[in-house]
Amino acid sequence: MKDTEYMLMALQLAKKGCGFVNPNPMVGAVLVKDGRIIGQGFHQRYGAPHGERNALASCRESPEGATLYVTLEPCCHYGKTPPCVEAILQSKIRKVVIGSHDPNPLVAGKGIRQLRQQGIEVVEGVLKEECDKLNEVFFHFIQTGTPYVVMKYAMTMDGKTAAYTGASKWITGEAARRKVHEDRHRYSAVMAGIGTVLADDPLLTCRMEGGRNPLRIICDTQLRTPLSSQIVSTAGEVPTVIATACTKPEAHLPYIKAGCRILPLPQKDGHLDLKELMIKLGEEKIDSILLEGGGILNWSALQAGIVNKVHAYIAPKLFGGANGKTPVAGMGVPFPKDAFFLTNSTVNHLGEDIFIESEVKPYVHRNY
Ligand SMILES: NC(=O)c1ccc[n+]([C@@H]2O[C@H](COP(=O)([O-])OP(=O)(O)OC[C@H]3O[C@@H](n4cnc5c(N)ncnc54)[C@H](OP(=O)(O)O)[C@@H]3O)[C@@H](O)[C@H]2O)c1
Repeated sequence: MKDTEYMLMALQLAKKGCGFVNPNPMVGAVLVKDGRIIGQGFHQRYGAPHGERNALASCRESPEGATLYVTLEPCCHYGKTPPCVEAILQSKIRKVVIGSHDPNPLVAGKGIRQLRQQGIEVVEGVLKEECDKLNEVFFHFIQTGTPYVVMKYAMTMDGKTAAYTGASKWITGEAARRKVHEDRHRYSAVMAGIGTVLADDPLLTCRMEGGRNPLRIICDTQLRTPLSSQIVSTAGEVPTVIATACTKPEAHLPYIKAGCRILPLPQKDGHLDLKELMIKLGEEKIDSILLEGGGILNWSALQAGIVNKVHAYIAPKLFGGANGKTPVAGMGVPFPKDAFFLTNSTVNHLGEDIFIESEVKPYVHRNY
């Protein structure tokens, strides 16, 4: 087998950690000796041993002289677990083949350097693009300290996210909705505005078998979330944060009693300061957010420069109506040249629906 084939195996292993390792990276590792796979492992859970150590622990024979294929540069610092470089050296592995470099300032090339200094052959950049893509959330979070934000919406082919009555259930079919539940498992939090809570009374939980519920964040400047809403009535079982500028402790009390956490935030332009919210969530190690807001919150998030990616689900149907909701509302940009530009788009079919995934190009300063 070739290096790329072993690395592909390591990538498949790494993906098994999806949704369970945040804010750590997903990492997979395969150990090969004399053309045979003698060990494999992946990072299974935040705080648990890394992929390299799990691969070593799974060995049925001595790893001495083996080649390690690992999707991310091995760590060389003490975190929740001791450094993987140490374990590699102790096990007398001969060669290490790496996918991504680790941009974590505590690692950033030092892992590779230490291995080479100890006489281990290191090959870098095998399936780098695929390995980098797997950990886009980790790479963003470790470098900025704020969550990676994916703005997700479902719309009709005439660009409506709800009919003129405000009703939006359901726009897309089952396959698309299944993917949304996978993403709620994948990302650490989901976020919506009070407008969506009032219109849809959503649950925002993960209904994927074996999945885990994300933290639910509601942006609610004036604390208007109904105590009878599904969000509040399930807050005892599903972690829920209501971000608000309301400072009255007596108004907070019924939400706290129901199991919600109140996150006080300053206002900016009459709503919550989203940049400040991202800083606070980053401090709490929330590395990623699936933004399931309506158009008003989506526009603000774009304006604040916090959106990294867009997930657009497009259903082959038309709602019409000048008052039908659209995915991004607000004032809009004055001219086409002022658009928020997207890049690296991929297009896929999910049942009858079309799924477009794009990255948001870095922002320039905007005055509107
Ligand atoms: N098809 C889809 O994918 C989809 C997804 C979501 C929603 N929807 C539809 O969209 C409609 C609701 O849209 P919406 O735009 O009214 O709701 P929204 O974007 O979810 O909520 C907007 C509200 O969030 C609050 N908010 C708090 N901080 C904010 C900030 N920094 N920037 C902007 N808003 C902030 C504002 O009220 P306060 O400042 O008073 O708190 C604002 O009015 C519903 O019809 C729903 O069915 C469709």
